[in-house]
Amino acid sequence: MATPADKRSFIVPTATLAGIAAVLTVGLAVLANVTRERIVHNQQAWIKEHLDVLVAPPNYDNDPLADTIEVTAPGLLGTQAPVTAYRMRKAGLPVAVAIRSIAPNGYRGPIELLVAIAPGGQLLGVQIIRHNETPGLGDAFENRDRGWLERFRGLSLSNPPQQRWSVRRDGGDFDAFTGATITPRAIVGAVRKTLEFYQGNEDRLYRDGRPQ
Ligand SMILES: Cc1cc2nc3c(=O)[nH]c(=O)nc-3n(C[C@H](O)[C@H](O)[C@H](O)COP(=O)(O)O)c2cc1C
Repeated sequence: MATPADKRSFIVPTATLAGIAAVLTVGLAVLANVTRERIVHNQQAWIKEHLDVLVAPPNYDNDPLADTIEVTAPGLLGTQAPVTAYRMRKAGLPVAVAIRSIAPNGYRGPIELLVAIAPGGQLLGVQIIRHNETPGLGDAFENRDRGWLERFRGLSLSNPPQQRWSVRRDGGDFDAFTGATITPRAIVGAVRKTLEFYQGNEDRLYRDGRPQ
């Protein structure tokens, strides 16, 4: 039978272990929180870099990362999920909306875009923010054909006419990459559909969910 001295000899190590476990649990929770905040901060900085390439900061004076809305249009934005639209304004007036749409039919999966459009529907530019296309073939827009994305600047749904918003192989105005037509076809199609979405939603894109 355990004596009171035996019981005491269990209590101290058990309490010590419980204390260590509690300290570790709190420590891990704090670390997870700090890590989460850092990830969010890094993602925001990464998006801001892309936005600033599309629209130079002197051209807007709001914080587009805090002036966003979520929009859902699977047929036009390439995903069932809501996508983020960043609004840029100067003195409260609309300057641009950058929509994070998806080209769902890339060669190796979805290609994530950031499409910046000015009031009236003119393209300010297109950035590819994430993709898994084949190095040396489908990723030509970021090395061999680095200027390819520049082609979009200044275009709109009527320039070129809607039926020519495709790669040359499909009768359109856009060059493909050497030996790789599937990737540019997917990107051109997604940009055109993003413009279509914009055209049907311009007012609401600037208005809804506006910060007070
Ligand atoms: C291993 C491999 C990877 C490929 N990756 C891509 C790609 O990322 N993007 C693309 O458009 N085509 C890629 N292709 C080529 C396509 O299969 C297809 O042949 C091409 O897009 C058609 O373009 P073309 O008509 O100009 O030849 C790849 C082909 C192979 C064999």
